[in-house]
This record gives sequence, structure tokens and C-alpha cells, in this order.
Amino acid sequence: MTSAVAKFAPRFDIDWFSRHIPLWQMILAEFAGRPMLALEIGVFEGRSTRWLMENVLSHPDSRLFYVDTFEGSPEHSGMQLNGLEPRFAKNLAEYRAKLVGYHGRSFDGLRQLPTSYFDFIHIDGSHQAPDVLSDAVLSWPLLKAGGLLAFDDYEWSEFSDPRQCPKLAVDAFLTVHHGTYDVVHKGYQVWVRKR
Ligand SMILES: C[S@@+](CC[C@H](N)C(=O)[O-])C[C@H]1O[C@@H](n2cnc3c(N)ncnc32)[C@H](O)[C@@H]1O
Repeated sequence: MTSAVAKFAPRFDIDWFSRHIPLWQMILAEFAGRPMLALEIGVFEGRSTRWLMENVLSHPDSRLFYVDTFEGSPEHSGMQLNGLEPRFAKNLAEYRAKLVGYHGRSFDGLRQLPTSYFDFIHIDGSHQAPDVLSDAVLSWPLLKAGGLLAFDDYEWSEFSDPRQCPKLAVDAFLTVHHGTYDVVHKGYQVWVRKR
């Protein structure tokens, strides 16, 4: 007999995330079953967010804060972005009680968050170097000592001008904060642990 109630299937039109899952599983294993506070800058349709909710933030006291304009970025021109925020909300509906969202620019949203608060911060919003730099600078005080900061797309080079890509900003951040973190991973993504 088939069930009359169809199982909900999230809708994702694009996948920038799945190839990082083995790395995320390995690094974030330390949080399994523990209450955890996470922040994501840039959630789009919610693919990385949903993976975090399913696999890492399983404790009832865990919370995920997110910031997004839901307007996309220059590299998303040509993509269908109508209804992006409702699509995110639908994809994450079953986790709604554990999510805290800010709709707007990260520069405005991050300045409203408490310091030394988060165990994990994922920077994957605007890829323009000035924005990545301000996301990193504003996020760093929000992270607890021992917390993890992950930059996506360190090696992304969609635009020929390096000021339109994250690497310049990540390198600048790592240089000026030298001595205050340990590098956990450096490849297509960069992960550091705050001392
Ligand atoms: C690459 S997507 C995020 C992908 C998502 N983390 C995943 O793995 O599926 C980048 C997101 O950042 C958002 N964004 C771009 N500039 C932003 C800004 N200045 N402040 C907040 N969000 C921004 C876009 O709307 C988009 O949803």
C-alpha cells in the first residue's frame, strides 16, 4: 500500500556544496550531538544550510543564524532568482524553529550579532574581495575562541580582476590576523580555528 502523504523533497536548482561534504564531515565531526551555534553568510537555496541541519546541528538546543540579501551576486546574472527566499524557507521548513534569519546585506546584519558567540561561521556571501574582507573582519569577533571559520571559494576565479574574487581578501585577513588562528584546511576552501 502506498502512503497518501508524499514525502517532502527539497528543491535545489544548483549544487555548489556537495563536493565539500567529505571535508565538512571530517572537520565538523567534533560537534556531533553537541549543542552548537552556527552562522552562515550566504545561504541561497539552502543547500549547505540543510546539510548542516541534517548532519551537524541535530541537538535540540543548536541554532543556525543566517544572513542573505536573497538577491544573488554578479556571478548569478542569468539565473532565475525570483522566489529565492521562499524556496530557501521551504527547503528548511522542518528546521524553522532552529533558524534565525536576517534578510539584508551582511555588512548590516553582522553588526547586530553578539560577540564570542558562534562555534562555526561559514562565509559564502558576496565573492567581491571588499565584501569578503568585511565579512571576515566583522565575523572574527563573533566567533568563540576555539571556533571554526570557513571561507568558501578561496580558489574561485570566475572574474579576471582579483578584486572581484575572494582570494585577495582571505589572504589579507589571514595576514593581518596571523598568530590568532590555526589553519585547519587550505585548498579550494580555507578553514581556520580561532585561538
Ligand atoms: C554562493 S551563494 C551561497 C550558497 C550556499 N552557501 C550553498 O552552499 O548552497 C551566495 C549567496 O550570498 C548572497 N549575497 C550576496 N551578496 C551578499 C551580501 N552583501 N550580503 C548578504 N548576502 C549576500 C546571495 O544572495 C546568495 O544567496
